[in-house]
Amino acid sequence: MCSKIAENMMSRAVGLSLECSVKTYPNPMVGAVIFDSGGNIIAEGRTCAYGCDHAEVDALRKIDFKAQGLMMAVTLEPCNHFGRTPPCSHAILKAGIKKVFIAKKEENGKACNGACFLSDNGVEVEFLDKFASSVEEINRFFFKTVRSNRPWVTAKMAVSKDGYITDAPGKQTLITGHAAKVHVHSLRASHMAVAVGANTVNVDDPLLTVREVAGDDPRPVIFSYGSQIDPDAQILKRDPLIITEPVIEKALLKLWTENKINSVLLEGGANLIRSFILENMIDEFHIITSEKVFGRGVKLFNEETQTLFNSQFILKDEKDLGEDILQIFRKS
Ligand SMILES: NC(=O)c1ccc[n+]([C@@H]2O[C@H](COP(=O)([O-])OP(=O)(O)OC[C@H]3O[C@@H](n4cnc5c(N)ncnc54)[C@H](OP(=O)(O)O)[C@@H]3O)[C@@H](O)[C@H]2O)c1
Repeated sequence: MCSKIAENMMSRAVGLSLECSVKTYPNPMVGAVIFDSGGNIIAEGRTCAYGCDHAEVDALRKIDFKAQGLMMAVTLEPCNHFGRTPPCSHAILKAGIKKVFIAKKEENGKACNGACFLSDNGVEVEFLDKFASSVEEINRFFFKTVRSNRPWVTAKMAVSKDGYITDAPGKQTLITGHAAKVHVHSLRASHMAVAVGANTVNVDDPLLTVREVAGDDPRPVIFSYGSQIDPDAQILKRDPLIITEPVIEKALLKLWTENKINSVLLEGGANLIRSFILENMIDEFHIITSEKVFGRGVKLFNEETQTLFNSQFILKDEKDLGEDILQIFRKS
């Protein structure tokens, strides 16, 4: 069988992994294709909701686990442990798959070594390394929890052209337009939690729900260790997690280990963003800049955090969002 067929099948598996929803979290988003030596697709699968079938089993189930002499392309190394579901490596072996192509090696201590189990039991295994970086990017939330024991953090802030997040302290100011709002709602839909500081709750009274796009609402998280949160704040009706731990790294560890939250969208305000930057805890930063000039108010960065920001991030992408400009920065 030519390697072009295996690569085409892996491309399809990567596409399937992108169809996984946030309900898959905190499991990785994985796609699997079962095919024959002529390059005909026999079955496809993707990781289902957390606790349900992994991609390999989702595909095998569609052919009643009868895959004698067939091959599989799967984006992440099959798991080899009994977790919420039995090991995929065992299901693949039992179904009779003769060769497995894998894009990216598993790193989770509990789940790895599926490739070794398969080859030890006579199933051929080949890694297609050229797909590894796409799988890494698709599963950046998952790999963050595996490597750092904390959720991935995306920060988002709207600023005026001259760098202000509001034109007066303690005041909500409309800065950006409709396209920016749609972008923020799609970010909310792709993260498990959305976090704000206590002052933002008291000043803006935000709902932090997904309204402009289809998707589930992320779990609200409020950072507050001192002041009272307004008892009438509408977010309190959404069962927020209240974080009273002032050390961000410890707070994030808790969000992962106790709440299994693999991704947090940090929506401000400036004080909370500063604390995250001081501890170098932001992985990606979306800054949406409007054409408006305020000339006064609260700046997103002070001298110290601007210097830290410049050293921590590199510009990854820049595009127009209606009348505003979106810049996406990644941790360097
Ligand atoms: N332009 C934008 O994108 C945007 C986004 C959000 C907000 N805003 C604006 O920003 C303003 C509010 O921002 P802000 O800077 O005053 O307040 P903030 O960052 O929303 O909240 C700060 C508060 O969070 C709590 N907190 C808990 N742990 C913390 C930690 N480790 N580090 C820092 N704070 C922690 C503290 O409250 P406790 O005293 O309870 O501990 C602190 O006083 C409002 O005017 C709002 O309209 C703008």
